[in-house]
Amino acid sequence: MAAAPPKIKVSFGGNDRLQKLKEAFRGKYGQTPLFFARAPGRVNLIGEHIDYCGYAVLPMAIEQNILAAVSVSDLSSIQLANTDPKYKDFTVSVDGISIDRDNPQWHYYFLCGVRGIGEHLSLSPLAGMRCVVDGTIPASSGLSSSSALVCCAGLVTMEANQTSLSKVTLAETCAKCERYIGTEGGGMDQSISFLAEEGTAKLIEFNPLRATDVKLPDGAVFVIANCCVEMNKAASSHFNMRVVECRIATKMLAKARGLDWSGLLKLGDLQKELRLSLEQMLELVEEVLHPEPYSRDEICRSLGISAQQLREDVLSANTQHATDFKLYQRARHVYGEAARVLQFKAVCDSSPVTAVAQLGDLMNQSHASCRDLYECSCSELDQLVDICLQAGAVGSRLTGAGWGGCTVSMVPGERIDSFLQTVRERYYAPDARRSALEEQSLFVTRPGGGAAIFIEE
Ligand code: GLA
Repeated sequence: MAAAPPKIKVSFGGNDRLQKLKEAFRGKYGQTPLFFARAPGRVNLIGEHIDYCGYAVLPMAIEQNILAAVSVSDLSSIQLANTDPKYKDFTVSVDGISIDRDNPQWHYYFLCGVRGIGEHLSLSPLAGMRCVVDGTIPASSGLSSSSALVCCAGLVTMEANQTSLSKVTLAETCAKCERYIGTEGGGMDQSISFLAEEGTAKLIEFNPLRATDVKLPDGAVFVIANCCVEMNKAASSHFNMRVVECRIATKMLAKARGLDWSGLLKLGDLQKELRLSLEQMLELVEEVLHPEPYSRDEICRSLGISAQQLREDVLSANTQHATDFKLYQRARHVYGEAARVLQFKAVCDSSPVTAVAQLGDLMNQSHASCRDLYECSCSELDQLVDICLQAGAVGSRLTGAGWGGCTVSMVPGERIDSFLQTVRERYYAPDARRSALEEQSLFVTRPGGGAAIFIEE
């Protein structure tokens, strides 16, 4: 069987965070935690908004993570607390877990993970648990704090119920169950959270899920910078709107090629069906789709479906009222970005002397495509990307869902100090709110390890 997440014995002497969390747990529940579970956030180096179209992405785990201290209780309830007082305590009976999509509060992400693993393993009843959660991933910043919380909860549920699952199964189950909150994300965040390994980025491919090491070039450093605009993807319809636009583009292209389009949902599946290269898919987009936005009427007419069928079979709950659909732009982004991911991996594998410059170019093209074709950037992200490039980065782009959150920049090692100083001076210092957030907003990152369970030695 494929490997389960590691169970690591640690002495808490040298670990302040575990020690503090253990104290917080004792203060809250008057007992000692049985185990700890950790799931990291991620930064995506390239391959944005293509995982849910079936295409490979190239993220790495970051050091920031969600850590939970857990004990098993016989109260038939799940008691949750967070070390950040902003996140309120929550208790729910093990057989009464419900997730409110209209009100995406922190504990619902945790409950997504609990419910997903509970259902996958048909655990009935689920073990009662007490948990205190401690997070270091800035929320709503595109570094996947919410998926890390879902993954951490999934791992906690597995361990508390004395079962074992492979990392791949955990990742697939957590990707599915995060959709209980209403966002139709792909599987990138959950996959890298479980499959990451220290020191290497990963090419993550789907269907079947697998992760391949990607050695990043020596001499380049990756820097994360938060533009300080928060984006909660479950609280708006931007994200699902893009998913729906890609779905409709798939159907329109398939219909134009005479395929049975009704079961096709992903641009990637369409490519497989047609057995064409990504370049040929880009030609097909040019030939079939027009740049002007499509109205509901035009889509219904082209596909030969009623307005009701469009609403029920194609649109998601929070895109029911959308009127304009930019199919040409979204499909061009997806096929172009999918090709860039493969080029990025090929450059890393062959490591030519020009690797850093080539990778930087690909990152810059990716940002331009996110900004102009996928329209998932915002003026602050664009401004920050420009500043990062002026400050010496060879490549810079938004990372994660976008519409706010972080950029990732690739900086030659010898320029890193002046890079950080320039970005501080030009982006953070002029604005009081940004400068108050600077410490957790601008940092160098290296590929971190994946999810794990810790037990005190
Ligand atoms: C979010 C989703 C991911 C992925 C990115 C965009 O993080 O959870 O699955 O779609 O956005 O690349």
